[in-house]
Amino acid sequence: GRVAVLLGGTSSEREVSLDSGAAVLAALQSRGVDAHAVDGIPALVDEIRAGKVDRVFNILHGSHGGGEDGVLQGVLDQLGVPYTGSGVLGSALSMDKIRTKQVWIAEGLPTPRFIRIPAGGDVRAAAFALGFPVFLKPSSEGSSVGVARILDESALDAAEKIAGEYGGEMLMEQMVRGDEFSVPVIGDRALPSIRIVPKGEWYDYHAKYIADDTQYITPGLEGDDEAEIRRLAHAGFVSAGCSGWGRVDVMRDVERGFQLIEVNTAPGMTSHSLVPKSARVLGIEFDELCWRILEQTMG
Ligand code: DAL
Ligand code: MG
Repeated sequence: GRVAVLLGGTSSEREVSLDSGAAVLAALQSRGVDAHAVDGIPALVDEIRAGKVDRVFNILHGSHGGGEDGVLQGVLDQLGVPYTGSGVLGSALSMDKIRTKQVWIAEGLPTPRFIRIPAGGDVRAAAFALGFPVFLKPSSEGSSVGVARILDESALDAAEKIAGEYGGEMLMEQMVRGDEFSVPVIGDRALPSIRIVPKGEWYDYHAKYIADDTQYITPGLEGDDEAEIRRLAHAGFVSAGCSGWGRVDVMRDVERGFQLIEVNTAPGMTSHSLVPKSARVLGIEFDELCWRILEQTMG
């Protein structure tokens, strides 16, 4: 049937999604899939009502007009159109970093300590309560958009300003000292981890999409450590109600060991992206990877 590759939208990750979507579309077409691009949820609904779409490959990142926060999933459930990735619950929960961490804590899964800061809440008090260094993050953005790294008191004014401009609920999270990893999950299986070694101080938007000097090592670990990070990522994914495919970000604290950071339910598929790098280690090329993700909707 006809596949709509849903991309673009109106979230802060629109540009990333246009890149991811173009790559996915080309891959599916090269496999002989009858696929076309659709920009944003309203346009998709129009196409569905016109009878032009049989299933959806969702590569629309982010919330607020992105396809990653459960809104799209609810609409498609209602319209009876199958789609890639998690359903309403897994999408909505994973888009909300605060509630994801609350579920993990309830499940006994490791995640860095944090404080929830309501809109207009006291950033300064939260930083002192947790102890420096910390990250300040919007609860529901992706690609490190709006994230502030607060090493000491001197960065607090700037952080308060960012929080004021953002205007929504945020979380302040203890900074992990140690290595950064990400683990894709496809179907019911965790793929090899990727260790991310940014050239700059941390893996921000620039390091993710613009710089070409970030180093990626995959598998990121060996032996029992690699088995453990995959087990943990898979547990984090499943406990957040996710299915289909996604990518779990994990760090390894020098003292506390592995820590779950967040789940991405429509992870990037650009030329810089992590999931394709991991799949390649298993001999799964990009076209095949896109096909396998789409195949999940045919169950
Ligand atoms: N939020 C971006 C697209 C990612 O996680 O890959
Ligand atoms: Mg994310």
